[in-house]
Amino acid sequence: MRTPRAGRAALHGRHLVLGISGGIAAYKAAYLARRLDEAGSQVRTVMTDGALRFLGEQTMAAITGHAVVTTLFGSRQAGPSPHTELARWADALVVAPATANVVAKVANGLADDVLTATVAAFDGPVVLAPAMHTEMWQQPATARNIRLLEGDGRRLVGPVVGALAAGDSGMGRMAEPDEILASLAEVFEDTLSGLTVLVTAGGTREAIDPVRYVGNRSSGKMGNELALEAARRGARVVLVTAAAPPDIPWGVEVVPVESAEEMAHQVWARASTLDVAVLAAAVADFRPAGPATTKLARSDGAPRIVLEPTPNVLAGLVERVEPGTTVVGFAAETGGVDRAVHKATTYGVDFVVANDVTSPGSGFGTDTNQVTIISAAGECTPLEMMTKRDVAGAIWSHVATLREDEA
Ligand SMILES: Cc1cc2nc3c(=O)[nH]c(=O)nc-3n(C[C@H](O)[C@H](O)[C@H](O)COP(=O)(O)O)c2cc1C
Repeated sequence: MRTPRAGRAALHGRHLVLGISGGIAAYKAAYLARRLDEAGSQVRTVMTDGALRFLGEQTMAAITGHAVVTTLFGSRQAGPSPHTELARWADALVVAPATANVVAKVANGLADDVLTATVAAFDGPVVLAPAMHTEMWQQPATARNIRLLEGDGRRLVGPVVGALAAGDSGMGRMAEPDEILASLAEVFEDTLSGLTVLVTAGGTREAIDPVRYVGNRSSGKMGNELALEAARRGARVVLVTAAAPPDIPWGVEVVPVESAEEMAHQVWARASTLDVAVLAAAVADFRPAGPATTKLARSDGAPRIVLEPTPNVLAGLVERVEPGTTVVGFAAETGGVDRAVHKATTYGVDFVVANDVTSPGSGFGTDTNQVTIISAAGECTPLEMMTKRDVAGAIWSHVATLREDEA
């Protein structure tokens, strides 16, 4: 089992659907929600009719800050199709307690209420914490259903031996909320645990005079998502950014910079300490030579601005890193990936992430991105259009796979 600290880190910023079914242990789901909230997860609750007999929906709404979803049809809390809406939103589902009834339904793919329909509509990790009387747990049908769930890759936590309802005790007690939280944290691969990673973000600004600059349209969103996702996966993260950092840069050391020169200085200074560097910033290739030290005035006439090359942050980093450091470059293109392929095959990087910033839903300022991963051998793997957060996840998974292959 992970240490509580590692577990909490892995849960930060996660979207979790907590399904509660009608067992006596339902009251403990309130404490589980509280613990998940403390760990920084966003929790939305789904309750069966049975669960509502044991626990008030207002308790869950107050703890999670979200209205509880209790019905599949005519739901006021989650739109006309609550199960698909919740399934799309969630990073993982946890059902605690899972009654014998819910265990049976999920094992067999039934979807006749909002909880089981959400499980059926969800294609990510599902953690179930069964809780029931010993006789129910020992039923051959229950044992059969548990085997089906395990075979389907569902993650089960508990039950354990202990006090049950109505003064009974024995096997069937729900695992303690902290145990369920730890199991849930394990779902999110902690693949970057112990690594130091550096991410660059934003568009650099190259001074014309103390007031004006030459810049670009990069928002820093992609770099921010990369930094946050790396922190969630357990890395020590440095974000060297020319844009606004994430609202809550949890677990991320933010180093603000403005120009390509400053970015190069901050990145190169850390080169020898890094396990992974992902340079997602849009760094200016050119800057005004000899910027004016005082504000240029209209009365002086239009200035002639002569440009000179900026330091090449990526090339300079590759020269300075220790062997074994994974270096990832980004290439913002405006049609075709030819130049990105050239970058991937000539810079000495491990791979390049290319995106066409002119295609709809992709590139600067958007919340989504469609990228192509290009290997050092020039092999192109286009990914689907997805949120920048999911792109960040795909990039870190690719980094982890490469490092595992090289180990
Ligand atoms: C007092 C009481 C406690 C119950 N506790 C459990 C329990 O811990 N586990 C269980 O599987 N069923 C338990 N049940 C039975 C379920 O509530 C029942 O099977 C119900 O149909 C489950 O519905 P659901 O799975 O849709 O929530 C209990 C029933 C009562 C009346």
